[in-house]
Amino acid sequence: MGAVKAQAIYGYAFVTSHRFSSRGPLTGRIRVPGDKSISHRSLMFGALAVGRSRISGLLEGEDVLATAAALRAMGARIEKDGDDWIVDGVGVGTLLQPQQALDMGNSGTSTRLLMGLVASHGITATFTGDASLSKRPMGRVIDPLSAMGASFTSSPGGTLPLVMQGLQPAVPISYRLPVASAQVKSAVLLAGLNTPGTTKVIEPVPTRDHTERMLRGFGVDVQVEERDGERIIKLTGPCDLEPCDITVPGDPSSAAFFAVAASIVPGSDLVIENVGLNPTRDGIFRVLGQMGASIDYLEEREVGGEPVADLRVRHAQLKGIEVDPSIAPSMIDEFPVLFVAAALAQGTTVTTGLEELRVKESDRLAAMAAALKLAGADVEERDDGLVIRGSGGKALPGGGVITTHLDHRIAMSMAVAGLASKAGVEVDSTEPIATSFPNFTALLDEAAS
Ligand code: S3P
Repeated sequence: MGAVKAQAIYGYAFVTSHRFSSRGPLTGRIRVPGDKSISHRSLMFGALAVGRSRISGLLEGEDVLATAAALRAMGARIEKDGDDWIVDGVGVGTLLQPQQALDMGNSGTSTRLLMGLVASHGITATFTGDASLSKRPMGRVIDPLSAMGASFTSSPGGTLPLVMQGLQPAVPISYRLPVASAQVKSAVLLAGLNTPGTTKVIEPVPTRDHTERMLRGFGVDVQVEERDGERIIKLTGPCDLEPCDITVPGDPSSAAFFAVAASIVPGSDLVIENVGLNPTRDGIFRVLGQMGASIDYLEEREVGGEPVADLRVRHAQLKGIEVDPSIAPSMIDEFPVLFVAAALAQGTTVTTGLEELRVKESDRLAAMAAALKLAGADVEERDDGLVIRGSGGKALPGGGVITTHLDHRIAMSMAVAGLASKAGVEVDSTEPIATSFPNFTALLDEAAS
């Protein structure tokens, strides 16, 4: 825990790299912050309702705060009230033209969903982001939103910065998703809220369904039909959203780091409370189960319309498996930490069908292959996945300085790898962690003290 002490002594701003080393088992009970996807949507839908919505358990990470700032710039009032957040919405169709560029920071979700909102309002908006976000493909939302009538001037390759002009009234479309992406699905549906007529999205592979579930909570008639394994989602605009009180469940994507940490550190017995287990998000826990992880689901219940449980995770010798690519959309953000679990497993883990990982906050296949190799793991990078021959539970050698490429999940995954290493793992910068999980390091100290 030397580097954590160094932060306290020297001040966070001066500490660039951070070493995560082996320490005791993870024990006790922890609670991870609110779900990032649900937090973004709570603010957006609250801003589109007429009246006051109250949100408890909102994730106060940089990505979500970027969404809040953009919505304020378009007329919504968003304020903290004790532990809750209050949103006074402007109503669908009345978003104001932002006076300055909307700075999306590192957040793809903020960017793509807000582009959807702007597309069917008669306003012009400029979207900017950090170096990581500025490399990510926006063509996947520009295409359908252009078909609805919005116009765009983007940077080369369809990236940020970009300027877009919405069209009011926009044109409803029927859109078959060419990539399994909840962000693209949501962008089209959000544009549809202020579009007269029926907007339809066809999803060949189901992705996280928070937009559909939550819009219903805000009083929108979202119709979902399953046909031949595809999902057809429809809404008819213009829609009125009713204000809503929301309790955001804990983020399964954040819980995943602790589930893997407790699985690979001998002697661990950790309860992670209040973990959202929406079936479009819980793939990591199912795959860890297939690898032999010891996960008990306690106090199963519903929070904010989402299934939730406390997870008791105990150390177990994991075994390598072939991960079924069809499970990927339900754990798309959890592969970096799954690769860490695989590096400590007995036998080989093979992952395929993961091209999407190359266009996340970083190229996560390349970044994790390089990082794990530097830590001494046996990893082969393929076009669409990694093949990892596990150590059989032996601590990784560790050492080297890992490059996180402004990617919070690379930083946290390699922090977890450091717990199961001989020399520790040095992460070049822990700052990106604040985008999604500001108290990650503090919780790690709490669980493994
Ligand atoms: C998200 C969808 C996913 C995920 C991201 C959050 C969302 O992205 O990776 O962290 O909230 O809709 P894609 O839709 O691009 O897969």
